[in-house]
Amino acid sequence: MECIEIFGGQPLKGSVKVQGAKNTVLPIMAAAILNHGISVLHNCPKIVDVYYMIQILEHIGCVIKWEENTLIINAATLKSCYIPAQFANKMRSSIFLLGSLLGRFNEAKLPYPGGCVIGERPIGLHLEGLRKLNVVITEEESELTARVSKLTGGVVNFSFPSVGATENIVLAAVCAQGTTRIMGAAREPEIIELCRFLNEMGASITGAGSNEILIEGVEELHNVEFNIVADRIVAGTYILAALSTRGRINLVDAPISHISSLLDTISKMGVVYKETKEGLYIDATGRFATIPFVNTEPYPGFPTDLQSQLMAVLAGIPGESCICENLFEARFKVAKELNSMGARITYNDRIAKICGVPKLHGAMVYAEELRGGAALVVAAVGAEGLTLIENRNFIDRGYEDICRDLTYLGAKITSKGSR
Ligand code: EPZ
Repeated sequence: MECIEIFGGQPLKGSVKVQGAKNTVLPIMAAAILNHGISVLHNCPKIVDVYYMIQILEHIGCVIKWEENTLIINAATLKSCYIPAQFANKMRSSIFLLGSLLGRFNEAKLPYPGGCVIGERPIGLHLEGLRKLNVVITEEESELTARVSKLTGGVVNFSFPSVGATENIVLAAVCAQGTTRIMGAAREPEIIELCRFLNEMGASITGAGSNEILIEGVEELHNVEFNIVADRIVAGTYILAALSTRGRINLVDAPISHISSLLDTISKMGVVYKETKEGLYIDATGRFATIPFVNTEPYPGFPTDLQSQLMAVLAGIPGESCICENLFEARFKVAKELNSMGARITYNDRIAKICGVPKLHGAMVYAEELRGGAALVVAAVGAEGLTLIENRNFIDRGYEDICRDLTYLGAKITSKGSR
């Protein structure tokens, strides 16, 4: 069984470079098939979800190679618009291929992406938006088929700023006939980066980062070389690990403008941070307090992907706090594992109440999904004694090498079992 062993209790210190962003690179890899040529992605994180996406792209005919942390995708010889279940079921993010396969072939066929541990993960907004671009969707038991004679621009008005649905409509609209207007669009940095990548490929997109995006369809796209931005959730995870251990760290390349809501939150708690020429300096060695209430919201609000990691920190600070999770209906599962480390957390599907204790203690705990697993690492580095985290494979989906990175920051953390 792959697991992580952590001997916690000492303050983190030192510097670490923040890896490339998972939720930026995955839709960009899907976007690469819109170009009948070569896309070069620098600072690409070597994470499990990228390897899954590589498998899918190679299966449909892309030729892909690594040069260090640069991924080179040649989509000239794309031959299929069908994603078989054995690939797509490994990773929900294959849903982004719906929009880009339609943009390339006017057709796409892939398994219905199921739910996951954190929620049911419906895709109604994706399908509703694609229908506005003239796409005909056939939903069978476990498979989706999408076809269109000619993608035509339309107006898509989202009732909720879904990140994935916004990305899918952008991908389908880039080479559509005419203009597409997306209202109620997601504003996450991942949307901005996807649109920047597509514009550098020859697309014509304005408004990314606002709730209204305009896409003028273009005839064709060309080769592109692009740098993947640093991962805001990985940066936030390491910041919260510094709080958990009362340490002080430097994050090289930290995407500071993408983590304002987290920085506001830790500042209200009394933690000092400073922008440096190489990134971000966090000093959590002084006294700081818990925060009474945190609401997760779509960007630029507090990110749901840092909610579990914040919970792990609040669990080890005396005082009452409350987290309201507004994005996913089952994202408190890690609380029971934190309670086995001495935390005192009660919760229902949307509200968690935390009665913080002075210090957590080590235990054997089980990761059930990516960010919950990262939260267990945050708790363990600050806890007294030894923690064993089973199912580290969940963590490897989004963190290139969390043991390597936290070792740079002085943590006593080792990987056990084969990776
Ligand atoms: C993206 O998921 C991220 N994944 C998630 O990160 C992140 O938590 C989420 O955005 C929110 O920021 C990737 O980018 C690969 P959504 P996505 O569509 O696109 C509801 C991580 O840990 N919804 O914005 O699936 C949905 O149920 C992962 O890195 C509908 O109701 O998120 C959820 O409640 C976890 N109908 C909410 O919207 C739809 O058609 C947010 O979903 C689509 C979504």
